[in-house]
Amino acid sequence: MKIPGDLLDTIVNSKNVAALTGAGVSAESGVPTFRGEEGLWRNFRAEGFTTPEELATPEAFRRDPKLVWEWYDWRRTLIAPLKPNPGHLSLAKFEKRLKKKEEGRFTLVTQNVDGLHRLAGSADPVEMHGNIWFTRCVDEGTVRENRDAPLPQLPPLCPDCGAMVRPHIVWFGESLEPSVLERAYKAAQEAEVFFIIGTSAVVQPSASLAGIAKDAGAMVVEINLESTPVTSLVDLSLKGPSGVILPELLKMIESA
Ligand code: OAD
Repeated sequence: MKIPGDLLDTIVNSKNVAALTGAGVSAESGVPTFRGEEGLWRNFRAEGFTTPEELATPEAFRRDPKLVWEWYDWRRTLIAPLKPNPGHLSLAKFEKRLKKKEEGRFTLVTQNVDGLHRLAGSADPVEMHGNIWFTRCVDEGTVRENRDAPLPQLPPLCPDCGAMVRPHIVWFGESLEPSVLERAYKAAQEAEVFFIIGTSAVVQPSASLAGIAKDAGAMVVEINLESTPVTSLVDLSLKGPSGVILPELLKMIESA
């Protein structure tokens, strides 16, 4: 892998770095991505639903909560035994390295709900779309961690009030939590270097973060197997699997 010297210098010397990750970063752990040949949105079919994306909506949950929970329970059971890959681990190491610098800051923003960044050691990831290991009571809004996979009862019920709980996930047509959005925008606006890794960059508002970072003066680096709608604006495009590129990049940073 070749990186022009001046760009590598910027990465090595910057004190404020942010990264946005998507499903591609977990692909090498065995988590299915959403789009593409083997993607979840192409391959999941449910009776009564025209497109699989419709399942990830509040309307679907109102109509058939058990079916929606079956889909999440299937995904939870699939993800439960999976481990962070070298891509996740390198991001966590990069974060630790940066935080040792005086005023060093690293913000990891992820669209992934699988929780693998936390398992890898990332301290406080901004989980834009929520986390599949948390449930939320539909009546009281209480958020709880729940690692059972498979769940013993579908739909699961709130242990306090007996109402149904839902996955603590942002569905299509729902707004992102304002505090989450604020952290993500701030990270993009203030970063000296902004990485966009393993995302098709088509889902808003996440997809806009690279442009926001660029407009605010950041150097933007994309890591992906293929080109995306943001490739034309980035300063550096590293093509390949993030589980290979990120450890190589970390090695280059450490030996610079
Ligand atoms: P996508 O499935 O849309 O895109 C995955 C991206 O990862 C593609 O651009 C692939 O080329 C790339 N990719 C695959 N394997 C890779 C690897 N090993 N290394 C690097 N890149 C790789 O997933 P997202 O962009 O994350 O939202 O999707 C965004 C959102 O759309 C998801 O969070 C989800 C979905 O609807 C919700 O469910 C709310």
